[in-house]
Amino acid sequence: MMRDVHSQTPRRVLVTGGSRGIGAAIATTYAQAGWAVLAPTRDELDLADLEALESRLSSDETLKDVDAIVHAAGINHVAPLAEMSLTRWREVLDVNLGAAFLLLKVIAPGMARRGWGRVVFISSAWSQRGRSGRATYAASKGGLDALMRVAALEFSRNGVLVNGLAPGFVDTDMTRQNNSPEMLARLEALVPVGRLASPDEVAQAAFWLGSDENQYVTGQVLVQDGGFTIQGGLA
Ligand code: NAI
Repeated sequence: MMRDVHSQTPRRVLVTGGSRGIGAAIATTYAQAGWAVLAPTRDELDLADLEALESRLSSDETLKDVDAIVHAAGINHVAPLAEMSLTRWREVLDVNLGAAFLLLKVIAPGMARRGWGRVVFISSAWSQRGRSGRATYAASKGGLDALMRVAALEFSRNGVLVNGLAPGFVDTDMTRQNNSPEMLARLEALVPVGRLASPDEVAQAAFWLGSDENQYVTGQVLVQDGGFTIQGGLA
């Protein structure tokens, strides 16, 4: 359904993780395109407490009544699998994947009733490739891709397109926290495009998938990694 260009009501997007990094760039991009943006901070909407999140989403009409969701919040605990605690495992699974399930469960049915919606999950190249120390992170992002495909099947017929966006290496706090300066230089050398992505580049792709610009793409993961994961070992 195309947007009525004369409509006075801007579309509304809920961006999780919108306080910094990639999420903040996404919130800015939507705002610049004239959307009303809800970007609650972690203090305002804690995605780690799933029971509280479900009841909050269910009772808060402002949060529930959005036209698009971008789930950009994400955490990563880097540790060898044998040293990963169950608490850390659950925390990453809850924020990255469990919260996405609840956002869909509570909000997407309303979008479907209204006949229009867009959902974008910020996944990761590690949803599709292995990297040591990322057991819980990779599992959460792989689960996110699988959840996204099922949601696309259940909601697309009602105008709700659901997709994933999988960045490789983006220049954010999370990347700097999890990689030494030497490692960052190595990563840049390993990416065919020769550099990390900027948060703004990821935001532009998320906005395309999660707005009127996208009319027919659903159930897909767009890998935005400068060519990193297409490599076969030798250039
Ligand atoms: P970041 O660490 O800069 O920001 C993460 C955001 O998630 C923050 O706004 C934080 O407040 C929010 N958040 C964390 N725990 C939360 C909780 N319990 N409740 C509510 N919000 C919470 O991370 P960055 O780099 O901007 O990453 C954003 C997304 O992109 C994440 O899903 C990440 O997995 C993904 N990603 C990042 C890449 C990178 O290179 N930085 C590469 C691939 C994917």
